[in-house]
Amino acid sequence: MSEGAVKKEERRKFQAIKGTRDLLPQETALWNRAEQTAHEVFATFGFGEIRVPIFEPTELFARAVGGETDIVSKEMYTFEDRDETSVSLRPEATASVCRAYIEHGMQQLPQPVKLYYMGPMFRRERPQKGRYRQFYQIGAEVLGGTDAPAIDAEVIEVVMTFFEKLELQGVQLSVNSIGCRECRPKYVELLRAELLKVKDSLGPDSQRRIDTNPLRVLDSKLESEQAIIAKLPRIGDHLCKECADHYAAVKRELDLRGVKYRENWRLVRGLDYYMRTTFEITAQGLGSQDAVCGGGRYDGLVELLGGPPTKGLGFAIGEDRLILSLQESGKAPVAQGRDVYIAWMGESARATAIRAAKTLRNAGFGVELPPVEQKFGKALGQADKLGAKYALILGDNEVTSGEWTLKTLVDGTQRKVTEQQLIADLKKL
Ligand code: HAM
Repeated sequence: MSEGAVKKEERRKFQAIKGTRDLLPQETALWNRAEQTAHEVFATFGFGEIRVPIFEPTELFARAVGGETDIVSKEMYTFEDRDETSVSLRPEATASVCRAYIEHGMQQLPQPVKLYYMGPMFRRERPQKGRYRQFYQIGAEVLGGTDAPAIDAEVIEVVMTFFEKLELQGVQLSVNSIGCRECRPKYVELLRAELLKVKDSLGPDSQRRIDTNPLRVLDSKLESEQAIIAKLPRIGDHLCKECADHYAAVKRELDLRGVKYRENWRLVRGLDYYMRTTFEITAQGLGSQDAVCGGGRYDGLVELLGGPPTKGLGFAIGEDRLILSLQESGKAPVAQGRDVYIAWMGESARATAIRAAKTLRNAGFGVELPPVEQKFGKALGQADKLGAKYALILGDNEVTSGEWTLKTLVDGTQRKVTEQQLIADLKKL
């Protein structure tokens, strides 16, 4: 490299890696509100929070999510650790929660165990609106106990209640049953046979999936394949009696809870661990990436990971998409304003200003205390720019008389307050 090129390289401006992004304060306020609401709503349904590691043995995800899935075969961030074990950034958290359930002997606790989590997940997908390589999920899992259909319905009710609290718009719930170890393989074979008959009319992705995972063909969004897919056999007509009864009961339980849903026989989900109930929720304003939540039942996953036979069910909400949809429907960013700007001048006012800031902050007010002296005009301009509600003016006069000046910035009115009255007066205002 020439000397010039080296200099240029040194001064290179760094940017967040493709598919990752910074969330700035105007946005994090809404994120925090969503997360706070999740903590509250999930607690009312008896869920406790679990925090699992960001990276795990690669094998955990390969086994749980499935080696043939896009997530595991193409999208994981995998690296060799210094001790030569293969680790991956988590692409999802259900596998980790099941691992934790086994590792901590949670089958000894009263069943089912209800856990929720929130945090970043990593998938190397092609970034676009609503799709990132580092994205955030809020998820919940119910492990152990029975597979009573009321549990499926209640898990769905948890998400719907959460979305209602946030006033998420255009919420549409789709449900399906994808059968069990007994009935699904038979259906998959039937589907494969039918797909082979129309193979030449399908695109390359679907052609490949006839071999690897015929169910995923049903997921196709390709316009030219839609008419063909519409004529394929439907899993609903091929469920075994237990699965058909279970599915019918889940729908009755949803009705009892007043949860509105649509049935979508093509809803198969992209992870291997599901059986019976699957569901997805879409919301408004998201374009092509409109699934804001996905989930389903996964009896058998804990066993697959070396634990005892265990029922399981859960969901994950895409928090990025949730926030996008809230923003698109005009949910105002939560105000971050300062309540009080302290405009102080003079050495004696400085000590008073520091004391006043401390008192106000202890009482819960947001306070901006300029670090250096400013002319009052400039200070008030600054207070305006920051969106402060009040300016507390402290100059020599105020300090000597003990009568402070409190200015309401929207209308410019001023009043005198004493140090003792300050908090009470502000609370009254
Ligand atoms: P999933 O459908 O892969 O399921 O992801 C759940 C949600 O995460 C999606 O509906 C979407 O909102 C969001 N999401 C996924 N990938 C991205 C991405 N690249 N960018 C932004 N958002 C994304 C699971 O992860 C399962 N673990 C859910 C589950 C829990 N099933 C049972 N328990």
